[in-house]
Amino acid sequence: MTGKKERYADVAREIAAVLDGEPNLVARMATAANILHHAFDHYFWTGFYLVDPEKPSELVIGPYQGTLGCLRIPFSKGVCGACAARRETIIVPDVHEFPGHIACDSRSESEIVVPVFDRAGRLIAVFDVDSDQKDQFDEIDRAGLERIMAEAFGG
Ligand code: SME
Repeated sequence: MTGKKERYADVAREIAAVLDGEPNLVARMATAANILHHAFDHYFWTGFYLVDPEKPSELVIGPYQGTLGCLRIPFSKGVCGACAARRETIIVPDVHEFPGHIACDSRSESEIVVPVFDRAGRLIAVFDVDSDQKDQFDEIDRAGLERIMAEAFGG
């Protein structure tokens, strides 16, 4: 069986190939969320929260796969908010241990949230992946997702 690291490398190539020539941001985000969600068994909820241009300290739901997500998350709340405020990836092995975690779906047990920057280095979104089991994300997920987000949106 192919290891997780190699799987991320394959998925990165697939996303780059499918997005080639497509400038629309919604199309790019929807496609990246779809490919990633279906590539890994440990992904339960997969998607983007966008920085709201109208309210720069608030995230609003973007393209995603999975059960119904909360529509808005302030930078002061939850793992997604903390990721946006700190502008760095956060891995949470047990969401019940994270102060202020927002349970959009009570089945979520662990998660990783990666900041998404544009070419100018501005934070435009965060990419959130939840699992329905504890301790599902590690440094391989971090490296894989940070690379994919940088190539797809920062390149
Ligand atoms: N887990 C997130 C909320 C978003 S959903 O789970 C889809 C958080 O605490 O930021």
